[in-house]
Amino acid sequence: MMTNDLEYVLLAEDKIQQRISELAGEIVRDYRGTNLILVAILKGGVIFLSDLTRQISIPHSYDIVGAASYGDGTTSSGHVIITKDVEISLKDRDVLLIEDIYDTGTTLKVVKDLLLVHGPRSLEICALLWKEKNNRKYDVPIKYIGFSIPDVFVVGYGLDYNEKYRNLPCIGVLKKEFYS
Ligand code: IMP
Ligand code: MG
Repeated sequence: MMTNDLEYVLLAEDKIQQRISELAGEIVRDYRGTNLILVAILKGGVIFLSDLTRQISIPHSYDIVGAASYGDGTTSSGHVIITKDVEISLKDRDVLLIEDIYDTGTTLKVVKDLLLVHGPRSLEICALLWKEKNNRKYDVPIKYIGFSIPDVFVVGYGLDYNEKYRNLPCIGVLKKEFYS
């Protein structure tokens, strides 16, 4: 079992799913009658996107952008590379950017600036996790936050360590021996 590699579970599967249905309820209430499109960031955001989109009961589209920032380690490199643009036109759309975690803010800042070039009618952000940090590199306003968590390195539910553990249904902290 991959969960055996965890020191502890921070957010259990049912807790994550419960919160996603609450977020979906808020999004439905706020976006009814708009031209909503969810845009998720590869790769961490796609697990969250796939659960969230199925809970949002109003018509909407989704698309994916590619951004890579962390490299191999557990601290942000500070460099974000865009690896894939959206494929659907965002002109006059109400864009909700879907991200796994708001850490230093670099990824969200870079992706937000990219999406604004496409001329959306509105652009807001929904992040599953929000790391409690005192000094963040970029302050990006987040409209919907799933959970506020301590400033620790977590894995699971899309979040990886060296491209592993994305498939865990829960979110937790790895045992020290698994960080090489
Ligand atoms: P930022 O650009 O520093 O905000 O980092 C954002 C990206 O780094 C996220 O999309 C994640 O892919 C990755 N990241 C940040 N914190 C963690 C973590 O605790 N575990 C795994 N990946 C993380
Ligand atoms: Mg990563």
